[in-house]
Amino acid sequence: MQIEPLIQKTIQSFRDFYAQCRTIPIDQLERKWITISLIVIGFLVSIITLDALFDGVNPPSKVETIDSTSLQLSQEFEEDNLGVQVDDKGNITIRMVAGRYSFFPKHIAVPAETKLTFRWVSMDVLHGVHIPMTNMSTMIVPGYVAEITTTFPKPGEYPVLCNEYCGLGHNHMWSNISVIAKEDWTAPAASQAKGVSNAK
Ligand code: CUA
Repeated sequence: MQIEPLIQKTIQSFRDFYAQCRTIPIDQLERKWITISLIVIGFLVSIITLDALFDGVNPPSKVETIDSTSLQLSQEFEEDNLGVQVDDKGNITIRMVAGRYSFFPKHIAVPAETKLTFRWVSMDVLHGVHIPMTNMSTMIVPGYVAEITTTFPKPGEYPVLCNEYCGLGHNHMWSNISVIAKEDWTAPAASQAKGVSNAK
């Protein structure tokens, strides 16, 4: 397909459109406000673009489903399998369940300055999770797995907050994560390779 004429044609139609727009009588003040709104839109779109390109803030790229009503039977999210796990290659995965009104397990300890993969699921309604000072902010939609990769820059106690209204106890739905200096952190004893806890 010849691309050159197509480009020409598109440019021409934009020119025609612009010329036509210029003939429409627009009030001075209105013209000013149209310009301001276009600038604001351009500004917001550029923030989103820069975030996506440089801060790794992206919409979820893959859709993974799960049956929220039987998480305890799902193998991956059964009770013994929650929390921090390290596989043979040293990758750290953290599986968390959100439910009215807490995140389970209630408390975990992770190393600072280390890439962590969080996998979140909901056992009841829509929740959100937000950890200040990190890129962790996502909805936890029942029926879906929300996977986010993050790194905690420095040790300390980080709050984990629910940021989607989920019921009367919503404002009490929080827990915390202890971030420990990389050298002091040891993998939990029960830590094991991905999704193999099937002893019951
Ligand atoms: Cu869970 Cu709000």
